[in-house]
Amino acid sequence: MLISGGGSNLRALLDAADNPLFGARILAVGADNPADGLAHAEHYGVPTFVVSPNAFSTREEWAAMLLEHVEFFNPDLVVLAGFMRILPPNFVEALTPNLINTHPSLLPNFPGAHAVRDAINAGATKTGVTIHVVDNGVDTGPKITQREVEISPEDSEAELHERIKVIERELLVATVKQIAGKQIILSEIK
Ligand code: GRF
Repeated sequence: MLISGGGSNLRALLDAADNPLFGARILAVGADNPADGLAHAEHYGVPTFVVSPNAFSTREEWAAMLLEHVEFFNPDLVVLAGFMRILPPNFVEALTPNLINTHPSLLPNFPGAHAVRDAINAGATKTGVTIHVVDNGVDTGPKITQREVEISPEDSEAELHERIKVIERELLVATVKQIAGKQIILSEIK
């Protein structure tokens, strides 16, 4: 798994995977910065790594080093959960379709880093969560699953995002379980 922030989605998956019946193990957690969420992995004794873009002169060189760290663990699936960097083709093409992302909007509506704020500012009455296969675009890959979340007129960005995350964490855990159990075949998602 790759994160950038607090890692509540990561934590949900770590907690779920702690049950041997879950069908998947979290092999490692990586980040682009010393993210708070890495503490969740440490709590479960899961290896962590940080590969900061600041240490590299190009995005491709950073991504190549990130990929080297990911491939060291030989994962069946890589999950981006609040990873706030655009991954270049040299990374994406080495892993997809076994590379998925969770995004807090009903894509294709509101792609990008401010999806929750954008939905509020657009006066939308509903938004939601999308889990999709990562391609070379920004939040444009083939959708695996979506759930709707109502927007209340008085919602702040933070309040709405927290409500979205409740649904998002459940959906991510269920989706990873289905992928592990081969109820979802990522190579068939178009
Ligand atoms: C999630 O809502 C994810 O969709 C978005 O950033 C948030 C990360 O939350 N890209 P957390 O770090 O998992 O709590």
